[in-house]
Amino acid sequence: MALREIRKKGDEVLYKVCKEVKEFDKKLAILLDDMYDTMQKSDGVGLAAPQVGILKRCVVIDVGEGRIELVNPKIIKEEGSQTGTEGCLSVPGQWGEVERPMKVTVEAFDRYGKKFTIEGEELLARAFCHELDHLDGKLFLDKVIRFIEE
Ligand code: CO
Repeated sequence: MALREIRKKGDEVLYKVCKEVKEFDKKLAILLDDMYDTMQKSDGVGLAAPQVGILKRCVVIDVGEGRIELVNPKIIKEEGSQTGTEGCLSVPGQWGEVERPMKVTVEAFDRYGKKFTIEGEELLARAFCHELDHLDGKLFLDKVIRFIEE
């Protein structure tokens, strides 16, 4: 396992649409492990592959309830709304209020290629939405209603 460099705002890799994962191989497992270690080292709750320079549809999340890995994730259901503060490891020093669904259901594959669905509420729903946006080249900054001063 290895730590990877986190790409920062302005790096073109963060604004591209990621490709679907087709091969559930050792390379994917290493990427997911490295992403998790990199996220933990930086005290993040989520990290998407483009944040380490890889244009693949992979996300890792841990909001304190354990490790979640999403490969080729899709939001299949959204309910309600919530407004709360977001930040991003690729956007150090900036936080802002963003509106997101209160509850989302995500369909994804695990690292072995097995399909599953997972529901998230509150912070986890927010993390799903934020990280999945990264896979389409979108940063939370574009959705901020109000920036929060440090
Ligand atoms: Co982010």
